[in-house]
Amino acid sequence: MEGRVIKIAVYPGSFDPITYGHIDIIERASSVFDKIIVAISQNSEKASLFTEIERIDLIRASTIGYPNVSVDHFRGLLVDYVQEKKAQSIIRGLRAISDFEFEFRMALMNRSLNEDVTTLFLMPHAKFTHVSSSLVREVAKLHGDITSLVPDHVATAIQNKF
Ligand code: COA
Repeated sequence: MEGRVIKIAVYPGSFDPITYGHIDIIERASSVFDKIIVAISQNSEKASLFTEIERIDLIRASTIGYPNVSVDHFRGLLVDYVQEKKAQSIIRGLRAISDFEFEFRMALMNRSLNEDVTTLFLMPHAKFTHVSSSLVREVAKLHGDITSLVPDHVATAIQNKF
C-alpha cells in the first residue's frame, strides 16, 4: 500500500430514509473504492421526515456489513466537503433517464467549482429503478407494504413516525 493513493469517494444525498436502492449503490461502490463516505446533506427544497441524527443511525445500521463505509453529514458545498475529506470522487446513482438531466447539470457544476473532483455514476439493480425515499414514505403513510424497499429497521422507524 506504501505510496499508493487511498481511493476515497463521497456518496452524498438526503437519504430520508435510506432504501435498498441506496444500499445497492453503496455495495457496488464499496467494492471499487478503498473508502466510501455516505454524506447526508439537507436539501433545503425538501421537507424531511427524519432528523439528520436519525438518518445517520439508519444508514449506519444498514451498512454495518461494509467495513470501508462510514457515515457523516455536511453543510455548504459538496465539492468543499469532498476536498476536506481528501476524497477524489463523488458517487451518484442513476436509476432512469429522468435522473440524467439533473445529475448531468449537477456534475458539470461541481466540476466547474472544482476540476479535481470527478463524479461517477453507478446504476442500481433494475428492481430498484422505481424506488425513491419520498415514494417509500408515501406508501408507508398509506399503510402499504415497504418491506421489499427498505431494511426492517428502516421500515419500523418509518412506521413509528406515522
Ligand atoms: N435508490 C433509491 N433512491 C434513490 C437512489 C437509489 N439508488 N438514488 C437516488 N434516489 C432518490 C432519493 O431517494 C431521492 O428521492 P426523493 O426525491 O424522493 O427524496 C432522489 O432520488 C434524489 O435525491 P438525492 O440523491 O438524495 O439527492 P438530492 O437531490 O436530495 O440531494 C445533493 C443532492 C445533496 C447531492 C445536492 O443537493 C448537494 O450536493 N448539496 C450540497 C450543496 C451543493 O454543493 N450544491 C451545489 C450542487 S451542484
